[in-house]
Amino acid sequence: MKITMIGSGYVGLVSGACFADFGHDTVCVDLDEAKISALQNGQVPIYEPGLADLIARNAKAGRLSFTTDLGPAVARADIVFIAVGTPSRRGDGHADLSFVAAAAEDIARSIDGFTVVVTKSTVPVGTGDEVERIIQSTRPDGDFAVVSNPEFLREGAAIEDFKRPDRIVVGSEDERALAVMREAYRPLSLNKSPILEMDRRSAELTKYAGNAFLATKITFINEIADLCEKTGANVQHVARGIGMDNRIGNKFLHAGPGYGGSCFPKDTLALLKTAQDFEAPQDIVDAVVRSNEKRKRAMGRKVIQAIGHDVRGKIVTVLGLTFKPNTDDMRDSPAIGIVQTLQDAGAVVHAYDPAGAENAREVLEDVVYFDDPYAAMEEAEALAIVTEWDEFRALDLAKVQSKLKGMIVVDLRNIYDREEIEMLGIKYVAVGR
Ligand code: UDX
Repeated sequence: MKITMIGSGYVGLVSGACFADFGHDTVCVDLDEAKISALQNGQVPIYEPGLADLIARNAKAGRLSFTTDLGPAVARADIVFIAVGTPSRRGDGHADLSFVAAAAEDIARSIDGFTVVVTKSTVPVGTGDEVERIIQSTRPDGDFAVVSNPEFLREGAAIEDFKRPDRIVVGSEDERALAVMREAYRPLSLNKSPILEMDRRSAELTKYAGNAFLATKITFINEIADLCEKTGANVQHVARGIGMDNRIGNKFLHAGPGYGGSCFPKDTLALLKTAQDFEAPQDIVDAVVRSNEKRKRAMGRKVIQAIGHDVRGKIVTVLGLTFKPNTDDMRDSPAIGIVQTLQDAGAVVHAYDPAGAENAREVLEDVVYFDDPYAAMEEAEALAIVTEWDEFRALDLAKVQSKLKGMIVVDLRNIYDREEIEMLGIKYVAVGR
């Protein structure tokens, strides 16, 4: 089967490499010449565990290639995936669909024979209809079907998520297209990942509803964490207590500094815009977005409160800047609001992140970056753990104690036991316990 991926960003590269690994003949296309030539030379422009090896292996086997030349790549394909960006449009929070529309036009010009055009990018309800309209008007003679097939990949675990998904959602009522999609995902259905077939609009909305629900779960437990702090309860016990109820489920109940990343913040906003357009208010998601937004700065204030005195001119060390571990992604990271709140109060922020410093430099000013967590702690009033990278789970606590000036650790990811820190005479502040 011949597959072409338009857009060699995060989703396009991971999906393209995985489809190639299933044995499909796969071409990844991008307009960015520098990116494509890097990929042709075996360099992978994003940070994702296992991806470089997967790409190298499949490129070597001749099943995966990269090009800027969209026309021939589309003409050969049985399936063309649109995996271009859908950023929040500046000003109004709507998903910006200009890249999707441009891709649809380019695809239309080159389709040859029956072609399944799949939107993999996260797109608002009704975008499939628009893609269909664009292709139809550009190529009235074209033989094609437009399918929605949202991705549910988590950064840092994307290959695993692609190869062992809970389900695959395919939105189409075209029997020919469905047969092609079943074939593309056949190795997964053999592994017992169900393919859920539904109409296109439901598939498009499934992605937004899924992300909004997960964002709600996180925000819910974060607010319960605040209540636990006030009432003397422990959110980890409460999360376990409710999570063992199968109707609730134990995932996504870790209290922390709020959700960030490339999906939840953008997709919840886009869902609210759709809700507005269709006059179907989403009061719950609206509350989730506001609560999460407030939380980031509140976590900065929590660190200041833990210090308990004026932080002007004092060093505060932040460990972890990315929105979660195993990524270099800083998009909408809670660390941004936390660091800025500390800086607004006059603190000097020293920071260490295993992979995110380079991207952090672009969004955070006046932070002093270190290559080593202990060097970052030297003479600090307090240490704040903001992202739960594995290397922060096993810090040499005696060394931490010897470096810190103020004996305070604020663990915004609840990765330590209170006793093991307090034993060393360090004050320990966590989230919701
Ligand atoms: C998410 C979805 O999981 C994925 O299905 C979708 O396609 C894209 O968005 P991702 O953004 O990579 O993936 O990260 P995820 O692991 O879901 O975490 C998102 C944010 O929520 C992070 O900031 C994380 O720290 C936070 N989080 C997650 C919590 O605070 N508590 C939790 O229990 C889980």
